[in-house]
Amino acid sequence: MNCGRSVLSRDPPLAYRRAMRPTSELVGRATELAAMAARLDDAASGRGGLVLLSGEPGIGKSRLAAAVADRAGRRGMSVVLGHCQETEGAPAYWPWTQVLRALHADGPTDAVLAPLLDGAAGGALHGDRFRLFAAAADLLLHAAEQQPLLIVVDDLHRADEASLALLRFVVPALARAPLLLLGAYRDTEVPARHPLSGLLGEIAGDGAFELVALAGLTRAEAGELAARITGDAASVDIGEVADRPIDGEDIVLWHTFGMTHVPRPEDWPVMSVETCGFRMRPVGFFDRNPTLDVPSGPR
Ligand SMILES: Nc1ncnc2c1ncn2[C@@H]1O[C@H](COP(=O)(O)OP(=O)(O)OP(=O)(O)O)[C@@H](O)[C@H]1O
Ligand SMILES: [Mg+2]
Repeated sequence: MNCGRSVLSRDPPLAYRRAMRPTSELVGRATELAAMAARLDDAASGRGGLVLLSGEPGIGKSRLAAAVADRAGRRGMSVVLGHCQETEGAPAYWPWTQVLRALHADGPTDAVLAPLLDGAAGGALHGDRFRLFAAAADLLLHAAEQQPLLIVVDDLHRADEASLALLRFVVPALARAPLLLLGAYRDTEVPARHPLSGLLGEIAGDGAFELVALAGLTRAEAGELAARITGDAASVDIGEVADRPIDGEDIVLWHTFGMTHVPRPEDWPVMSVETCGFRMRPVGFFDRNPTLDVPSGPR
């Protein structure tokens, strides 16, 4: 990713920045990318906003966000990343702490912002919280005035309530600022009672807000991606295998659990097999750890 500022040498964690530095070319997504390019143009001319990419795990949200960030960097915008950690124990406001640290860089110490920059603002209540939000919004808008800014915050489904509240606070100012906020979240992990659902409901009517629900790649694109991953264009013809009727067919289910896979006799159709049923589920696969189903031992 070609980012406009050296401040990215600080947070977010190196592992995440590496993940956002794509090693392969983007496949498909031309429509989404064109729409995002227009949003970047708008933002650069002072009409920013909030765009959220939603979709199931692995659909390509982060990859598309990385492509948008790359484009923003190439058109001279500053790009700053924030990431909501999966690990428990991240401080409140963690994605904003990363963003604001990057923007604040070597700026003067600000007593109001200091707890947020230190990752210690979790206890801020009422008036303190308002002052904190106002100072954070000021810093964002001030930075964007210096150089049009793209802020990417990934994995918002993991964001703490305080981070979402700050996001909510910032949204109304975006329409008149050279600042585009791009977020991504797994819609499969945002049930109705999730704080992000509440936020989405509140900002739904805001003209500066756009929700981009990512669908799967087309069959040809999926084939192209698979061929790139395997490095063998001939071996993957998604068109051949997709949508074949399975009525009356014997389905052989191969266990492919990566490093945890232990070959078992029933992996091999020539050996004795265990007949079992399965449910086809469009998203999520397992909604809980399947090993938790191991029956308890005899009492
Ligand atoms: N359009 C694409 N072109 C090239 N590679 C892609 C594309 N979409 C996804 N990928 C690749 O597929 C993998 C999963 O994509 P990505 O990490 O963007 O998914 P995600 O929607 O962010 O998933 P998660 O919800 O787990 O964060 C990555 O290796 C990514 O580079
Ligand atoms: Mg992702």
